Amino acid sequence: MFNKESNIIVGLEIGTSKVCCIIAELDDKGVSTIIGIGQSRSNGVRKSEIIDQDRTIEDVSIAINEAEQMSDVEVKNVYFAVTGGHIKAFTCNGFHPIHAASKVITQADVDEVIRNAKTVNIPAGDMIIHSIRQHFIVDQKGDIINPIDMLGTKLEVNILIVHGSQSRIRTPIRLLKNQLQIEVANVVFSGLASSLAVLNKEQKEIGTLVIDLGAGTTDYVVTVDGLVKHCGVIAVGGDHITNDLAQGLKLPIGQAEQLKIKFGVAIPPNNIQDKFVVIENDLGLKAKTINLEHLYLIMALRIEEILELIRQDLQETGIIDSLRGGIVLCGGGARIPRIVELTERIFQLPAMIGSPVAIGGICSALKQPEFVTAIGLIKFASIFKREPVARYSLTDYIRNIFGTFVK
Ligand SMILES: Nc1ncnc2c1ncn2[C@@H]1O[C@H](COP(=O)(O)OP(=O)(O)OP(=O)(O)O)[C@@H](O)[C@H]1O
Ligand SMILES: [Mg+2]
Repeated sequence: MFNKESNIIVGLEIGTSKVCCIIAELDDKGVSTIIGIGQSRSNGVRKSEIIDQDRTIEDVSIAINEAEQMSDVEVKNVYFAVTGGHIKAFTCNGFHPIHAASKVITQADVDEVIRNAKTVNIPAGDMIIHSIRQHFIVDQKGDIINPIDMLGTKLEVNILIVHGSQSRIRTPIRLLKNQLQIEVANVVFSGLASSLAVLNKEQKEIGTLVIDLGAGTTDYVVTVDGLVKHCGVIAVGGDHITNDLAQGLKLPIGQAEQLKIKFGVAIPPNNIQDKFVVIENDLGLKAKTINLEHLYLIMALRIEEILELIRQDLQETGIIDSLRGGIVLCGGGARIPRIVELTERIFQLPAMIGSPVAIGGICSALKQPEFVTAIGLIKFASIFKREPVARYSLTDYIRNIFGTFVK
């Protein structure tokens, strides 16, 4: 095994249901090809946060070893996905008067207005994960992509701040370093990584919502005019559906999960009365008869709740009207039969299941909706490596992301 660090990038997601590690190689043109994949069940995570460090380290080791074996590369540092109910986003505004007598806006003015916008108060104990620049405003005229060399007396900029709990973000980073000697090169909000993986250039321009339906959380990101405009996390995912089924149908969690995968559907079918399935009991107790009508209704209620919460948030911010590109679903929850139809019904917009765009390599990874976040990390890393300090070259979506470097 060798360590060709400079052109190797590694994405790691420690999700609630699985740990996923993807290794890619960057060529001279900055094109990445997946050369290794590793996966393991995740046993130490609840609601996307680590609750059992030892089990998490075991799971991460399995996933990383598998990816290392496949690629013949030793993992030294990773781009790391973070999510959880503690992650929030808000937009803030920076203001800067143009002092020069000529009133020509310079790079220094742009630097200053961005610096002003970024001096925001986030809750105590939180850290900024991303500050994502939006359009500039010159003398009340908005939607300006590049203000340099324009004339004006007042320059403003909006910045989307994505922040989250420092301790929750740093805990896995410390764990990786102390237990596995793996450095985190950069943390990336999972939803952002997923949106990078599944959206093409046109979708980013015309306005698209990406929903990543995970096991512990549901992340969502809205991209319009090539810029990330809004994002959020609903602290509810597939595990909650399983829990509801376990409670409602009085089953152990394992059986509820199996039933969900086998019979689950987002929209209850017609003529569901009097449909039953019999489940054998692993512990030797009497077999149990399940009324499928109950299963369908319990499941539909939870999925509708998750999608409705996102819809309400986008309605309140008004951004729902910008979604001309519709909705792209990913994460394991995108496998739920008829989820596309339900999403279309709730949002009154076209929806589809996303798969990674413009990335090559091992095809099996590209077909799994669960792998989208880790693949997005590879995309983030390849652009970040190519242009680590590019900030105002404005057409490219990712160039507007200043990932906060965390050690
Ligand atoms: N066919 C299916 N029907 C219903 N649910 C499914 C299906 N396939 C997968 N899931 C659910 O998808 C979830 C796993 O998705 P994913 O791998 O994206 O989550 P994760 O990344 O581990 O979690 P998170 O990002 O929330 O921490 C599980 O809750 C699983 O039950
Ligand atoms: Mg996930």
